[in-house]
Amino acid sequence: MCGIIGYNGVSSAVPFLIDGLKRLEYRGYDSAGIAVISNRNIRQEKKKGRIAVLSSALKKRDDMCGTIGIGHTRWATHGSPTDENAHPHKSGKFTLVHNGIIENHKELKEKYLKLCDFKSETDTETAVHLINRHYSGNCIEAIAQTVKLLEGSFAMAILCEDEPETIFCVRKASPLLIGTGEEASIASDISAISSKADTLYRMADGEIAAVKKDCIEFYDFNLNKIDKERSEFSVGYAHTEKGEFDHYMLKEIYEQPEAVKRTVDSYLQNDTLNMPIKTDKPERIYIVACGSAYHAGLAGKLFFEQLLSIPVSVEIASEFRYCSPLANKKTPVIIISQSGETADSLAALREAKKKGAPTIGIVNVPESSIATESDSVIYTKAGTEIAVATTKAYSAQLSALYMLAIFFAEKWQTAEKKQLSDLTEGLRKLHICIKNALGCEEQIKEIAARFADTEHAYFIGRGSGYAVAAEASLKLKEISYIHSEAYAAGEMKHGTISLIEPGTKVIAICAPNGLNAKMQSNIDEVKARGAEIFAVTCTHETKADTCIITAEAPHPMMSISTQIIPLQLLSYHVARLRGCDIDKPRNLAKSVTVE
Ligand code: AGP
Repeated sequence: MCGIIGYNGVSSAVPFLIDGLKRLEYRGYDSAGIAVISNRNIRQEKKKGRIAVLSSALKKRDDMCGTIGIGHTRWATHGSPTDENAHPHKSGKFTLVHNGIIENHKELKEKYLKLCDFKSETDTETAVHLINRHYSGNCIEAIAQTVKLLEGSFAMAILCEDEPETIFCVRKASPLLIGTGEEASIASDISAISSKADTLYRMADGEIAAVKKDCIEFYDFNLNKIDKERSEFSVGYAHTEKGEFDHYMLKEIYEQPEAVKRTVDSYLQNDTLNMPIKTDKPERIYIVACGSAYHAGLAGKLFFEQLLSIPVSVEIASEFRYCSPLANKKTPVIIISQSGETADSLAALREAKKKGAPTIGIVNVPESSIATESDSVIYTKAGTEIAVATTKAYSAQLSALYMLAIFFAEKWQTAEKKQLSDLTEGLRKLHICIKNALGCEEQIKEIAARFADTEHAYFIGRGSGYAVAAEASLKLKEISYIHSEAYAAGEMKHGTISLIEPGTKVIAICAPNGLNAKMQSNIDEVKARGAEIFAVTCTHETKADTCIITAEAPHPMMSISTQIIPLQLLSYHVARLRGCDIDKPRNLAKSVTVE
């Protein structure tokens, strides 16, 4: 998604802006730009491609020496990645950067801006021309008049040559944070806020901020002053470096044991789960999410239904939000999100609340929109996750779902005490089992070499094995660009088996769920058509061309957490052999804050 950065202090803005843009790179982007106010003139530079391209262009500019500036990494929505479509965009005395989508930009252009000279294909440029059109000497009034006309989602940082001491910020549906302290900084997420900040403001929807280097004023869109709550939040750099790892993704794969342990330890004290959740025994539970978070939800369904004997619907957020869901006050809705800013998941949360459903967020980023708007929230303690392909946050989400199911089962007395104490013991050992599962990397490197030139791969499984297959398939696709599908093993023969031909790679996840004989039949079916079979299994009885024996899980119901590990490593090493951009895969963003 697009990234916004801003600086208002006493040092030169350019180095801070470039460093901040680099800290936002992991969000995914295809162009970047900055603007600074220098002697009451706004100077800007923007380039298609990586930040390195922008930096080398800036080396030729000696006129960008101001102490106030804004920057942007663009993930193209309207208009292809070009220099002209990169942000900032300028009109008259105003220059702005934007994250989100202005959905009515065409109508506004038609109604108000027919005579304007547009330089780009972006929706964003409509906003800066509108502000300029409304401007008659008062910046914040012009901004307020404009934002009331905009529909969709927007976080904006705006400069005006007539107010060279101020950065104006606007927020509606796309996140924007402001750090204050020795200097003021603005960012789409906490990793780019100044490390000198000692206070954090999280802008809410419908707010405008006037940010000077030593004071901030907040208003609503009708320009009523807001006395905004400060959050004494030690910001620091949420970032860490790669250390001895070549990629953030590999580092985060190896951080999974500690990520899971931190998450479990934050809620399991002295054999008791303390979950901040108040809800009566429901008729049904919804789990709603996108991508890997959705795959964690597939695992959660199995766990919840086995322990609670309550039907669980796992929904893709972009579907849930538009299908007028049957959620109500008796059907809690659990929203799972690493970033807490995924537009579809946030919209699904708001839809669930409109239906009167109790909402529970399982979120990794503190103070994110989903965390703050959910009725209650369980934090995964995975730490900052930089790689676009999630690993440690996904594993932490699984542990949060295990804990929530055990907590509910204890509260509603829907499972035997012995079973629950075994599972609680399993929670305590989970991080050790994940650490043991990481021991397969050498075998995985050898297997990866056999995938490097593959065009297609199929992941099959039953029950929890299918939940693993779904996540493993996404991992392979998103970082190695190999086409891959996850299939319920028993479903292959209903059509997709027609795609199996000699040499087709099939990865069979054989979970310890009593279905191994059935899995073996499915393996035989595809093997009979020439497939090369890789089996991920905890036992040695599986007949396959290659067996990946994973470390035992602390409880059979938690095998997802260990069986996913070799497949995360497989996707990493295949992508590495194929020379892919592992931490920033093409076309992807870390947090998809647009529809
Ligand atoms: C996972 O590897 C992907 N990067 C993506 O599917 C991600 O899980 C999805 O966009 C949801 O993101 P969220 O957890 O931040 O809501």
